Amino acid sequence: MSRLGTETAFEVLAKAQKLEAQGKNIIHLEIGEPDFDTPENIVSAGQQALQDGFTSYNPSPGYGDLRDIVANEISKSRGIEASGENIVITPGGKPIMFFVIMALIERGDEVLYPNPGFPIYESMIEFCGGTAVPMKLHGDKDFNINVEEVRNQITPNTKLMIINSPNNPCGSVIGLEELEELALLAKENDILVLSDEIYIRFLYEGSHQSIAALPGMMDRTIILDGFSKTYAMTGWRIGYGLFPEELVEPVSRLVTNSVSCTASFTQIAAAEALVGSQDRPSAMVEEFKKRRDIVVAGLNSIEGIKCATPKGAFYAFPNIDGTGMSSAEFSNRLLEEAGVAVLAGESFGKYGAGYIRLSFANSTENLQEAISRIKQFLESNYS
Ligand SMILES: Cc1ncc(COP(=O)(O)O)c(C=O)c1O
Repeated sequence: MSRLGTETAFEVLAKAQKLEAQGKNIIHLEIGEPDFDTPENIVSAGQQALQDGFTSYNPSPGYGDLRDIVANEISKSRGIEASGENIVITPGGKPIMFFVIMALIERGDEVLYPNPGFPIYESMIEFCGGTAVPMKLHGDKDFNINVEEVRNQITPNTKLMIINSPNNPCGSVIGLEELEELALLAKENDILVLSDEIYIRFLYEGSHQSIAALPGMMDRTIILDGFSKTYAMTGWRIGYGLFPEELVEPVSRLVTNSVSCTASFTQIAAAEALVGSQDRPSAMVEEFKKRRDIVVAGLNSIEGIKCATPKGAFYAFPNIDGTGMSSAEFSNRLLEEAGVAVLAGESFGKYGAGYIRLSFANSTENLQEAISRIKQFLESNYS
């Protein structure tokens, strides 16, 4: 168990809630969860499904109808031809990481993963006995990967490369040219790719490119996606993966061995999410874009803080080196002294040092208040 990491967001949330219980006013910018309700049509479909008796087990890879609907959605959004047979439905997108790494990685295998990046990648790789090899996202280069650096990190033991675009926590997007070079590296070195595309609808510039759509990549790519972010369904627990054929059976077996299946009524609601109106999710993304602009401008107006504009996802990842504090000191003191909960950059790996992550899944009013609290916090410490 000592090799298993965690997601600091939940720890900071617990600490912030404790302070709230003591009467302190806290602005929550720590958790990656849309502050919107699940759209009504989806809630109604879930309620109806419960009434219609969708309350029992279902096949481990998910209902055939939903798998087909998901395949259709992936095909349209990525410009590929996906089949429902290659889809496995899981309780959230997170289990896809878990199952892929468990199915593929053995002691001594090396896995490339983005750093800063979602903490569960490193945690699961190490837990499964693999060696986690960080692909640095360069803060001074819009958090891009240096492909030459990655080439030098590949060894005969490299089995899997994890990419995440748009990226949590940096908001960076991997451009087509880089994606092509990464695809070439994967093919030349017989590496599988886990492409975490959970934030593709939160893209504020350009259009999404999936590595799976590049020549020869369908057979070596697993796409991870889900409903938590796009449809504000974090608590419903539903996500999915598109797998090369040979992985569908082992991953389904891992589902059977762990959770048996994903909740039946949740799957009916998820089908409605994909076939029903997309107006609410689109409006949510528009709102996030406005908030992004407010947060980035606000942060950049504070001395000691520099914030790149995220192209996607819903996080700002500013550099705070200019304040003279470490990320841990900054985030701890900001919570305790100013009542703003954010995450230290190291929660996302060693290359996150010197940064903090703020989620802009909060009201404009609260975001503006958070910016002014950060300003006051720094002024009272340094003036
Ligand atoms: C990069 C990334 N991938 C996957 C997930 C998994 O989300 P869920 O399991 O709720 O679908 C998250 C959630 O925060 C995430 O940030």
